[in-house]
Amino acid sequence: MKKGSRILILNGPNLNLLGSRNPEIYGCTDYSELVEMIERWAAELGFSVDIRQTNHEGDLVDWIGAAPASFDAIIINPAAYTHTSIAILDALDAAALPAVEVHISDIYSREEFRRFSFAGLACEEHFIGYGTDGYRMALDYLSERV
Ligand code: DQA
Repeated sequence: MKKGSRILILNGPNLNLLGSRNPEIYGCTDYSELVEMIERWAAELGFSVDIRQTNHEGDLVDWIGAAPASFDAIIINPAAYTHTSIAILDALDAAALPAVEVHISDIYSREEFRRFSFAGLACEEHFIGYGTDGYRMALDYLSERV
């Protein structure tokens, strides 16, 4: 995707607690530091980003639904809704924008109930278990995508 592309970056429930929440799983970077890092990485690639976090499933559905009017791609970490939300999967399918899934932890090596991602079915690429670097990898992926 070319410089100037607009990327919507969505983070689901409890990601606002990064830094204090289970640091042995999610690391010590707090949410505001993550936002700063993503803004810096995006600026290096010439992307404009809008980074949002919510604890409410409907917010994610609404934001994804409105995204085609204002954005060229979506990077999403739906957090716990990953494993439960067909509504988010349907919203991503309907939006039909390039979407990339990120998870800080490796959902495949944790509890059984985290091993399936509904949202992932509507995403063309996945960066899972790379810590907060996953967001950088998602931006790099989009920058190389034609
Ligand atoms: C997470 C993994 C989910 O299983 C969990 O519910 C989260 C965070 C991650 O980034 O590793 O809240 O999406």
